[in-house]
Amino acid sequence: MMLQSLTTLLALGSMASAAPTSMAAARKLLVGGPGQILLANFDGSSFEITGKNQTAGTAPSWMRYKNSTDTLYAVDENSASLNLFTLGLTGKPDLKYTSTVTGSSGVVFLEFNKAQTRMVGAAYGSAMIDVWDVSGDVPKIFKQIPVDGTLGPGQTAHHPHQALLDPTGRFMIIPDLGGDQLLVLDTKDDKYEITSRQALFKGAGPRHGGFITHEKKTFYTVACELSNKVILFEISYTDTGLAFKEISTQSTYGAAFPPANATSAAAGTVVVANNNVDVYISNRLSGNATDSIAHFVFDAQKTSLAFANTVSSGGILPRDMSLSNDGKVMFVANQGGDNGLVALHRCGTTGNLAPKPLAMKALKELVAPGLEGQANAGPQFVQEI
Ligand SMILES: *[C@@H]1O[C@H](CO)[C@@H](O)[C@H](O)[C@H]1NC(C)=O
Ligand SMILES: *[C@@H]1O[C@H](CO)[C@@H](O)[C@H](O)[C@H]1NC(C)=O
Ligand SMILES: *[C@@H]1O[C@H](CO)[C@@H](O)[C@H](O)[C@H]1NC(C)=O
Ligand SMILES: *[C@@H]1O[C@H](CO)[C@@H](O)[C@H](O)[C@H]1NC(C)=O
Repeated sequence: MMLQSLTTLLALGSMASAAPTSMAAARKLLVGGPGQILLANFDGSSFEITGKNQTAGTAPSWMRYKNSTDTLYAVDENSASLNLFTLGLTGKPDLKYTSTVTGSSGVVFLEFNKAQTRMVGAAYGSAMIDVWDVSGDVPKIFKQIPVDGTLGPGQTAHHPHQALLDPTGRFMIIPDLGGDQLLVLDTKDDKYEITSRQALFKGAGPRHGGFITHEKKTFYTVACELSNKVILFEISYTDTGLAFKEISTQSTYGAAFPPANATSAAAGTVVVANNNVDVYISNRLSGNATDSIAHFVFDAQKTSLAFANTVSSGGILPRDMSLSNDGKVMFVANQGGDNGLVALHRCGTTGNLAPKPLAMKALKELVAPGLEGQANAGPQFVQEI
């Protein structure tokens, strides 16, 4: 159990020093990690922390922001709490805690439906899928769905890891790391039922996926943490669910750059760029001096996903990464190593990430009070808002 401490600190804008013009131009980032939520500005060459909520024992490892109401929903992976904040984006960033509601424990991912009236939580820690009614001020549990099925080899529980809304806005795909399966949640008419599922190979351990669309075709690619494989599927829509046709399965490292330690290696997250071509996968605990981000290229003519190159993540355990809203920068959250936050330039033509970072922020400056010197206490989540 984690210690719930009331010792908190809220330093709003106290460290902001940039001139008003560069403040306006700076990208605003939301960062989550053990014991804290941080607001940061990225001005193209450095990160600056502009606000924070530090609460010992929490792990806000995933967040969703509803801009129509300025509401920030933050999981606490260490408990069953869903924490709500208001976050105003005009002018000085302003993060204010509002309330806490209780759902399943160990939620690691949140996803809205299209109308942002429902929010689905993937509870890795308790093998549940929470469906929240978030149409009002206070979220209410709308439905809770236990994850079932055969467990993977050596697994003792199901672990839903993500819930990603498909491009039509009707279905969510939920990778179950413990059950080597993809679950399809149908949101139509407020049903929120698992209507189909796709078994993966034994020991796959799927973690995070992403959709790729091309003309009328839809593809889904999933990075598997336990096997370090990336699988590409073509998806077809049935009356009630999704059907998966496997296109390819390959190493998340590509053929030429295997991990130094295949035992510890654990693929992390997937980012599909807006061009529906560039796919990035974070490779964690590779045993190399730093971990890495592999770049794959989707070719619609050949219907293939091909490894292109790999760059350093600038640290260890890149649990999360995300592209800037304009697609020009990849933000990386490393839980360990020297650099907790890293910004990499993304080439608009090739999609390649430049190996030399635009900016890095030392991990030790990104660790919550009380966690100094602890392993992997760095950022777990980063997103431009
Ligand atoms: C608010 O969020 C919606 C959904 O993500 C997005 O389409 C819209 O552009 C956002 N509006 C603003 C003002 O950022
Ligand atoms: C920070 O957030 C936590 C919920 O994670 C809340 O309990 C606490 O009151 C907040 N602190 C402040 C100073 O608002
Ligand atoms: C990681 O280390 C392995 C083994 O030493 C090496 O083959 C591989 O190229 C390294 N990866 C990168 C990205 O340098
Ligand atoms: C590789 O990783 C495993 C699992 O974390 C660890 O036990 C082992 O010591 C590592 N091997 C090396 C050479 O570091």
